[in-house]
Amino acid sequence: ALEKKAAVESERDLLHTVGPRITKLKFGNIELETPIFMPVGTVGSVKSLSPEDVYSIGYRLILGNTYHLNLRPGMELMRDFGGLHQFMRWPGAILTDSGGFQVMSLAKIRKLNEEGATFANHINGAKITLTPESVVGIQEDIDSDIQMVLDECTSYPATHAEAKASMERSMRWAQRAREARKNKNRAQFGIVQGGMYGDLRVQSIKELRKNDFEGFAIGGLSVGESKREMRRLLSATMPWMPHDKPRYLMGVGAPDDLIDSIMLGIDMFDCVMPTRNARNGSVFVRSTASANGKMQIKNAAHKASKEPLDSNCSCYTCKNYSRAYLRHLFVAEELLVFRLLSIHNLQFLYDLTEEMREAIRTGRIFEELPNIRKKYAPGSI
Ligand code: GUN
Ligand code: ZN
Repeated sequence: ALEKKAAVESERDLLHTVGPRITKLKFGNIELETPIFMPVGTVGSVKSLSPEDVYSIGYRLILGNTYHLNLRPGMELMRDFGGLHQFMRWPGAILTDSGGFQVMSLAKIRKLNEEGATFANHINGAKITLTPESVVGIQEDIDSDIQMVLDECTSYPATHAEAKASMERSMRWAQRAREARKNKNRAQFGIVQGGMYGDLRVQSIKELRKNDFEGFAIGGLSVGESKREMRRLLSATMPWMPHDKPRYLMGVGAPDDLIDSIMLGIDMFDCVMPTRNARNGSVFVRSTASANGKMQIKNAAHKASKEPLDSNCSCYTCKNYSRAYLRHLFVAEELLVFRLLSIHNLQFLYDLTEEMREAIRTGRIFEELPNIRKKYAPGSI
């Protein structure tokens, strides 16, 4: 029994490797301190913002999507421009998601088999097949700095048997993706799956660790389960994640989820929430500006307000514009409001992660946590 226990512990990274941490992402031209949030620029633009807007806030790494970019503008043009950085004129780094998630959420008439995913695309209905190998090739054309393997985001809910079969196929795809790489100067991340089952997720991590991926992502979460459930699964699986590689929690970005996941040792996040909410007129605000951390700009209460969205925010929008003006733009459906609110929401998440990085760096994170929570996610306590 002792021997068995020792074997288990050597496979698992010891407890001291779980918890909030600072790491350096160092790939090619990227050198970034984590934890970080990554704005989503699915089709080659962070919606309503210019690259300068995104860069000015402080962001240096954004997301693109293989599924969308392959459909439009297509890889012939991408190759002609020498990749997405040059095409969109983004001076920072790019991570591309593989498209596995989008096939399930966007495409009609999809069929998964061992070879890959076949579907009618959401733009013109033409039939397309994505395989682990073709997705590696597309990402090499995009020339993204961090590339994700093709996976299946297990549907929710799923039985143990369904989640197991889905996870095992994703692991075989991850192996094929690792072998398909031609350009070894770019980072490739594996993606943990396993549905809502801790044992399957641990098994998935062990499979992925057989390949020396440059980073490890956690997929298949924030798909409809409760926040409590997501925290349970993260806590159960984090000790098994390699401690010397970046850990990326996919599709998560609500302020309270960021805080709690950073405390569990997650290094990277992405989410459409800040930019999508902005386009719906919903903004994040620090606890001084609202009781629950949110504000709806179209509310009549802001009609004549000379206040900024958040008096403790240093973003371009808060430095220059009143709530009354922003509300007017929103009600009049003026496009400028999308940009101004998106800048603010992205600044909010940037400041939240920067404050946590600083507290971790100086060893004050456990003392500061209650203040950070109260300030950035007051609704959650
Ligand atoms: N984005 C959010 N969740 C997922 C996932 O499970 N897989 C991929 N590829 N992207 C995601
Ligand atoms: Zn602001």
